[in-house]
Amino acid sequence: MTTGCGYQTAVWLIGGMAASAVLAGSMQAADSDATFTQKVKPLLARKCFDCHSSKSDELKGNLKLESVDDLLKGGDSGPAVKAGDDDSLLLKAIRYQVEDKQMPPSGKLDDEDIQVIADWVKGLKK
Ligand code: HEC
Repeated sequence: MTTGCGYQTAVWLIGGMAASAVLAGSMQAADSDATFTQKVKPLLARKCFDCHSSKSDELKGNLKLESVDDLLKGGDSGPAVKAGDDDSLLLKAIRYQVEDKQMPPSGKLDDEDIQVIADWVKGLKK
């Protein structure tokens, strides 16, 4: 009687573990969306939207930065962000590593802000 009960518990446990693994996977994607909305986008809105949004007088570099898809799609030079790639163009631009693309042009972001964006790119799923 007790062995039967143990068997059932084991089945239940394994089933539960599989379900939570699936859940964790989709939660990671949701997390990175939430991070974009809560942390990255407000930063870009403050520092970049003057020149890189649908509200810009003149869109610079053909690059919009209003959604994750905008960043993945990029502008004149191709994708601004590649999932997981620390050498993404946007990161190089905000680190002032690209000669004619030092963003924002008015002055470098705080290291902290650069880190927030870099961490988000790193966590982005391909
Ligand atoms: C004052 C206007 C202005 C602001 C603010 C600005 N940019 Fe730009 N950005 C430009 C211009 C102009 C270009 C085009 C430069 C070129 O291609 O020579 C550009 C190009 C870029 C590119 C390259 C696009 C491509 O595909 O060629 C990236 C990436 C970029 N900006 C990111 C940012 C980010 C991130 C911010 C905010 C942190 C920002 N920019 C803020 C004016 C601006």
